[in-house]
Amino acid sequence: MSTPAECQVLSLWQTVVTVQQQNLGDDFNARLSAIAIEAERNVSPSGSFYDRTGYYNLFDLDDPDIRVFAELMSHRFRAHLYLQYKDAYAYHWDVSVRAFANVYDYGQRIRPHYHHACDFVSVYYTELGDGSKPDFKTNEAGRLVVIDPRGAVQYPFSAKSQRVPTEKGCLVFHPAYLEHESETHFAKGLRVMVACEFTILHGQRRAFGPLPRVDNPNPPTILPTEFSGDTIYNAHYK
Ligand SMILES: [Fe+2]
Repeated sequence: MSTPAECQVLSLWQTVVTVQQQNLGDDFNARLSAIAIEAERNVSPSGSFYDRTGYYNLFDLDDPDIRVFAELMSHRFRAHLYLQYKDAYAYHWDVSVRAFANVYDYGQRIRPHYHHACDFVSVYYTELGDGSKPDFKTNEAGRLVVIDPRGAVQYPFSAKSQRVPTEKGCLVFHPAYLEHESETHFAKGLRVMVACEFTILHGQRRAFGPLPRVDNPNPPTILPTEFSGDTIYNAHYK
């Protein structure tokens, strides 16, 4: 599987963001959307990330389409490391990965965030509803918005965020630290994407092990409250 010729490389604030169109076909994208929607319903009462109360990994599913997608992500991610970072170990690393879905209904968006516990993130758009129609008041069209990750930088003062065009079949890679959000989804139908989080298991990380559990000798004891079901997602929207 070769790297697609059409790979748009954006160098934003010394941060590499790549955008490339995949040709997996409408049938494959529809099946992947269905898997993603079902996975979200399993952890969210409404099926929306607004109410997500747990974490999961689509790559745990024993499904032929998921296996195809996982292999594609490995090809594309390693090519990203090799071509954009000149990483000679790109095809040698063991990489830990988690895939999950984001499903947007009309009027929904995701607020600015970066990703925890990983090095890189990919987003693959399987469904955009009936198209990326800009809202007539705000010109929002569900695009990916990336935000300058540098603290208090004074120049360029007019480009603190930039919009990345996103279409069905579009695959984006960016580093986990890059803060990003989505514009509001104003098209009819659901907007579905499958995100992946990649962690490179280099030698230092392989040396880590569990810290022993010990009793707390410091009174008074702070009792844990009952688990609220909060995740980094639904905590935004309370
Ligand atoms: Fe994200």
